[in-house]
Amino acid sequence: MKKHDVLIIGAGGAGLRAAVAAHEAGADVAMVTKLHPVRSHTGAAEGGINAALKDEDDWKDHAYDTVKGSDYIGDQDAIETMTEEAPNEVIRLENMGMAFSRTENGRMAQRAFGGLSFPRTTYASDKTGHMLLHTMYEQVMKRGITVYDEYFVTNVVRENGKCHGAVAVDIQTGEVEGFAGGATVLATGGSGQVFEHTTNAVACTGDGTSMAYRAGVPMEDMEFVQFHPTTLPSTGILITEGCRGEGGELYNNKGERFMYEYGYAANDGELASRDVVSRAELTEVQEGRGFEDGCVHLDLTHFGEEKIEERLSQILELARDFEDVDPVTEPIPVKPGQHYMMGGVACDANGATELDGLYAVGETACVSVHGANRLGGNALLELVVMGKLAGQHSANNHLTNVSTSAVEQAVDDERARIDELMSGGKEHQSVIRQDVQNVMTEKVNVFRAEEGLEEALEVIDEAKERYEDVNVKDSSKTFNTDLIQALELRSIIDCAETITIGALKRTESRGAHWRYEHQDRDDENWLKHTYVYHTEDGPEVKYEDVEIKDYKPKARSY
Ligand code: FUM
Repeated sequence: MKKHDVLIIGAGGAGLRAAVAAHEAGADVAMVTKLHPVRSHTGAAEGGINAALKDEDDWKDHAYDTVKGSDYIGDQDAIETMTEEAPNEVIRLENMGMAFSRTENGRMAQRAFGGLSFPRTTYASDKTGHMLLHTMYEQVMKRGITVYDEYFVTNVVRENGKCHGAVAVDIQTGEVEGFAGGATVLATGGSGQVFEHTTNAVACTGDGTSMAYRAGVPMEDMEFVQFHPTTLPSTGILITEGCRGEGGELYNNKGERFMYEYGYAANDGELASRDVVSRAELTEVQEGRGFEDGCVHLDLTHFGEEKIEERLSQILELARDFEDVDPVTEPIPVKPGQHYMMGGVACDANGATELDGLYAVGETACVSVHGANRLGGNALLELVVMGKLAGQHSANNHLTNVSTSAVEQAVDDERARIDELMSGGKEHQSVIRQDVQNVMTEKVNVFRAEEGLEEALEVIDEAKERYEDVNVKDSSKTFNTDLIQALELRSIIDCAETITIGALKRTESRGAHWRYEHQDRDDENWLKHTYVYHTEDGPEVKYEDVEIKDYKPKARSY
């Protein structure tokens, strides 16, 4: 059995930052990850990372923009922590060697992003996540931090109200192994694969969220799912908000800049927050002013090739290669696609969950700094600020009396479960996965109706039953991706269920959650966080009031 002070599960930006911080705090740290770190989904983040760096800017304005973006349900203390720390963390990244784009006088360049009152998004062309990921991985390598890559963690180990580590399948050999840990930090990213049309990589299956849930830690605010307004229709690939930040324009089939023309966002137009723009696009399509495949057009042709090459070179390649469209001369067809989970494992600003020894960070976590709608450029920021805090806190507070026997027992239990999974079964995992993804995309999307949510819940309930007799075709031990996908499917189902239950019960519209039957925000009844607990008898839902500090709820318009 492997044993470390701090185990970080997942090695994207949040996990890497937490590992560095825990190591700096003197802990023996190891990362356990199903992907090699630089294949993590952080690498797909394009547009940038927010920080109030300039004299004319103020972190308090950044905090206000974030609270407003969250539709007043974000935790204001945590938001202030994140935005106040942002300049330090971004400068730290720069000192570590991250290749930020520059202005002509050599300072870090910043661009406009949706929902921000000041252009405070620092960036590395349109490859900001890629640069951040590689920079952080270099730091992990430099420190000699142990990385167990291609291990799929299936469970965290709970005994006597404490977390003692995790159990994982070594993907290379198929063996089940135990990892004893004084602290276990879940940093496995989001769960975009719950949906069919998503910007998320195939690896984003909500594993950490599901593990914590099954260990008794609630999932918080899962109903708040972000749909990014500009994704390619055929693949879901992200076309960065940076395009609109640089001046890209959205058009309907009448040649109108509909964000202004129809008053969706009379001041900020294309740079309203994402929930507002996604709803506007779909309304255009529903009212007959869209293009084929439920799209609108994103026009960059007025930029000229040089500017696109310099600021948005990846977009150029993606549009040409995946949509057969040349942004230099023609508009890009785009539509909303699932992009980000605002909800996740309930935890505090240090990443600590209600289970002693268990932490969550990054998209896996719900602190909540994004509330009902995240602002673009705040995800990479959360990774580094909250990653640092979780790393420090877990290193300084890890358990010293880890129960290795609990981990051994959990390994035996998991071996038995996997043997059972491999021993036949009726339906192939991919069929169940597809059914869940389809119903989520159809019924739990930007616009939600009671009937559709109920239908989705029925499909998910059936999926749970079908999963009991799931079939894994590949019987080999080595690199059995069929088995890994069957294991992931349980996470997908858990996330789908909690998203849909939260959405059905929240009878108001707030941020990214919009209901046909309840189109207004209802502060009197719903200034609340949702917590879903896993129980033997199915999910149990509880609520807690949101704490309002300096920023009082008011009407939200852009
Ligand atoms: O549009 C984007 O580049 C995405 C950024 C983000 O989600 O923060």
